[in-house]
Amino acid sequence: MTLPESRAETYRISLVCLGNICRSPMAEAVLRARLSDAGLDGRVCVDSAGTGSWHVGEPADPRARAALRRRGYDGDAHRARQFGPSWFDSRDLVLALDHANLETLIRLAPTPDAARRVRLLRAFDPSVTRPDDQAVPDPYYGTDADFDAGLDVIERAADGLVTALRGHLGIGQAG
Ligand code: 4NP
Repeated sequence: MTLPESRAETYRISLVCLGNICRSPMAEAVLRARLSDAGLDGRVCVDSAGTGSWHVGEPADPRARAALRRRGYDGDAHRARQFGPSWFDSRDLVLALDHANLETLIRLAPTPDAARRVRLLRAFDPSVTRPDDQAVPDPYYGTDADFDAGLDVIERAADGLVTALRGHLGIGQAG
């Protein structure tokens, strides 16, 4: 999939779910680690937000932090924020974790160019076969196993995204 052009030295990505306490903080921690492994941490920066405001200022959900820890990631420093239209000024790519948040983000986009920079994270997951099945399911009312399953999906999508970023930025395979 073609990535939107960067408008600055650093390629800037926001990951967006509903509450910014479960899925997008997990995706942020995973993507940041994958970018570092790929040697792209200086070229690409990543953060996260929610479309809702209920949890602003809170740490990530303890179940998300535990799921991250089980796989060697660290989400403990996270504090939830709400995405607003002004964020589009400074983001090259805005990745929604599910279809409802994708629609909210497109509605918030102040210009057609901003709306074109909104995609689904799982658009980069090579295992996706159906366009209507590209969500990272909301684990908020789920179990630890649901958080682990969410991480499986996020890790696949993050790998696909890093591959796409390498191509876009003209950077070959590390190592
Ligand atoms: P997230 O999960 O969008 O993955 O952070 C949720 C967190 C909170 C709520 C819903 C989903 N909530 O309704 O408060």
